[in-house]
Amino acid sequence: MTKEKVNPNTVTGPFLGVIFGANGDLTKRKLIPALFSLARDGLLSRDFAILGVSLKEMTDQQYREKVASDMQELAPDLFTPELQQFFEERLYYLSGDFTTAETFGKLHARVETISKKHHTQGNAFFYLATAPGFFGPIVHSLGDAGFTRENENGWRRVIIEKPFGRDLTTARALNADIQSVLSEDQIYRIDHYLGKETVQNIAVLRFANGMFQPAWSNLFIDHVQISVTETLGVEHRGGYYDQAGALRDMVPNHIFQLLTLVGMEMPLSFGPEDMRNEQVKVLHAIHPPKPGDVASEVIRGQYAAGSLDGESRVAYCDEHAVDKKSTTETFVALKLQIENQRWAGVPFYLRTGKRLAKRLTEIVIAFKKPPFTPFRETAIDPLEPNQLIIRIQPNEGISMRFGTKVPGTLLKMDAVDMDFCYADHFGRTPATGYDRLLYDCLRGEATLFRRADMVEAGWRAVETVQEAWAADDRSLCSYPAGSWGPAEAEELLARDGRQWKVYE
Ligand code: BG6
Repeated sequence: MTKEKVNPNTVTGPFLGVIFGANGDLTKRKLIPALFSLARDGLLSRDFAILGVSLKEMTDQQYREKVASDMQELAPDLFTPELQQFFEERLYYLSGDFTTAETFGKLHARVETISKKHHTQGNAFFYLATAPGFFGPIVHSLGDAGFTRENENGWRRVIIEKPFGRDLTTARALNADIQSVLSEDQIYRIDHYLGKETVQNIAVLRFANGMFQPAWSNLFIDHVQISVTETLGVEHRGGYYDQAGALRDMVPNHIFQLLTLVGMEMPLSFGPEDMRNEQVKVLHAIHPPKPGDVASEVIRGQYAAGSLDGESRVAYCDEHAVDKKSTTETFVALKLQIENQRWAGVPFYLRTGKRLAKRLTEIVIAFKKPPFTPFRETAIDPLEPNQLIIRIQPNEGISMRFGTKVPGTLLKMDAVDMDFCYADHFGRTPATGYDRLLYDCLRGEATLFRRADMVEAGWRAVETVQEAWAADDRSLCSYPAGSWGPAEAEELLARDGRQWKVYE
């Protein structure tokens, strides 16, 4: 008997979504547009409602008007009169302080009436789009108010944003705290990188294509580069960022998601446990720099004033809400080893930073060079390594770089690219992630969410770096805004006879 295939494009069941932090940036930029996008694609049940909770006093109607004007400004393509009407009928607002019992009392009453009116059948998600200090207290209050009990009254799920802790100790404590109220399968820890099409495609590229699988190891791969470079500075988030820094903000979460997908063994299935079991093994196999090697293998930088796209930019320390004497890093580059059979001896070079020359997230798989012997007597310069380049964003796609003979009588060679571009082939650029993640949560599909052990393993892998920096932060290098980061990051690879991929 053939097994029935799962149809991924099905409409969700009824639900109520409660968003804490409904007035914040994340809600307006990502969550509401994601809900509109799901509704546009016909993936949401008609029986649903969204209840936003935030401190600011507003009526339901004022909140609907705010959402409408935010959507007009931020996602005008999704803001059609039909969708506006569809959401108007399903949006509610409650003002309240997340730390008081009174708010949860009021929430109870509103949840009851809204659920009845929209036939949500007791299903509810609670999205914590708040400052991290509220995660634990809100989960406890939800528990005390009876919102987290799953029974015949439907499912109850809690979606938690990053940052999930500041280090291993705080992440462990937060896990223990929320797990005292919720079971692990009720917890959806978001890492929006996992919602990106191009990130999910890494597993498909590797495991559905016979030509890559045999070459995907230290036998053929020389090294891997993962770059997440941003042109943006810290914008209005100086207060958060100055406490976090580039390492915490990007490495144990987003960059490690990319690293685990590149590094993992083939899972038995794409189900949540099989996938995440393999991903977490990669994290456990990371061999972080030894304390004595942190200074040479982990480069931390901070942007000075400079210029980007012809406009001058202030130094990080002069950004709004940043301490003038801040030693927080806005750039980090590091070298890691994954100590297992497949990857022993293959360095993974990671870098990320703000106010860099170009916005891009890319993975470069650099293959080993073949022997030069037959080319010795020719006009060919040293061979370039073949590269497989996975462009996560922008210009989403994949390209392969290899050497080709330049037509003519002399044996000369040039590097050429074979290119796949999502927009050309599929006619649209992949979504940014939140729609897919919300949709998965609504269906109880947890593969793209981080399990407790993954979060902790990520922090464990950067622990020696955090400790070394805490003990001595004199190592901060400077780079001008608009550059590719400190010169020391170039040297990190140059020492090993390698270089970062060069971008025009
Ligand atoms: C967030 C970080 O998680 O990811 C930001 O806090 C960063 O600092 C952002 O800018 C990058 O996301 P994306 O999808 O733009 O690459």
